[in-house]
Amino acid sequence: MKILVAGGAGYIGSHTTKELIKEGFEVVVFDNFSTGKKELLVGGELFEGDLMHKESIKKALWSKNIEAVLHFASLIQVGESYADPRKYYTHNLITSLNLLDVMLEAGVKYFVFSSSAAVYGEPLQNPIPESHPLNPFNPYGQTKFFVEKVIQDYERAYGLKFISLRYFNAAGADPEGHLGELHDPETHLIPNILLFLLGKKRKFEIFGKDFPTKDGTAVRDYIHVTDLAKAHVLSLKKLLKSPQSEFINLGTNKGYSVLEIINKTEEITGEKVLYTESPRREGDVPVLLASKEKAEKILGWKLYHSNIETIIETAWNWHRKCAKSM
Ligand code: UFG
Repeated sequence: MKILVAGGAGYIGSHTTKELIKEGFEVVVFDNFSTGKKELLVGGELFEGDLMHKESIKKALWSKNIEAVLHFASLIQVGESYADPRKYYTHNLITSLNLLDVMLEAGVKYFVFSSSAAVYGEPLQNPIPESHPLNPFNPYGQTKFFVEKVIQDYERAYGLKFISLRYFNAAGADPEGHLGELHDPETHLIPNILLFLLGKKRKFEIFGKDFPTKDGTAVRDYIHVTDLAKAHVLSLKKLLKSPQSEFINLGTNKGYSVLEIINKTEEITGEKVLYTESPRREGDVPVLLASKEKAEKILGWKLYHSNIETIIETAWNWHRKCAKSM
């Protein structure tokens, strides 16, 4: 069975490609390398193409006999989406619409979508169940919300079958050391601390120590990228076996504050994290935790790597390896 992985040279896309190949799927990685990296190609067939151009998607879907699509390709920086919403709406929506359009033309009905906890906005309760009202407040989250609406309508009208996976805080790196996070610029907490310790960032800032949490810093639900990747494989298998569309959270149900992450990182690396204090980033909420019951029930999903020590250790190994090779 041939699967197209759009954005397969990105952080989560590459880890998922690795898992798909392990499970015996034939993978075509579709990427334009605007943010994807050649270093993150792990196998399968490469199709260099651009989701902004339907012709290149058509070529990939028809010539490769694709039967299902996993869609990771997206701009992901919340802060940038505030500053330049046009870029986000244009890119994230048009690429998704193009991909879905060509899929329907080609008769490809199975779709796994990279959504985000950002669709919930400021939560009314934690952990957040999938039934929680959707109220995204940044343009990045809005684009994920809109695509979720589109795929619901396409299911009703055209029989598309999808699983939309709402990621909480993806973190960590391939336990075998072949893959990891390579964002440029990097904005996420754990890599920012590690890159600072490796001398690759001049300073590390805590954004906000005045949140209504136990230590004043924001609490997030960190989920290991390999566990995320496995959830995609399970979603694909589920769609192929008993096609039913679903929205599913991917998180651990457990949270760590920024200060707790700093303490754990100091324990693991043996280095002191000297931070500066800065105001909150626009749109950062105090606490975001996933209810994971639905993923366990519907997908039979289990967490193998998502304890916080493994997350930080695997990320540390990856960033040290990258620092040596650059
Ligand atoms: N933080 C710092 N310093 C940094 C980076 C982050 O203090 O250098 C703080 C943030 O303010 C936040 C926490 O660490 O409180 C986590 O920040 P991340 O940037 O790692 O992650 P976010 O929770 O902001 O964002 C993640 C995903 C988004 C998604 C969002 C929605 O990266 O794509 O969750 O849940 F939209």
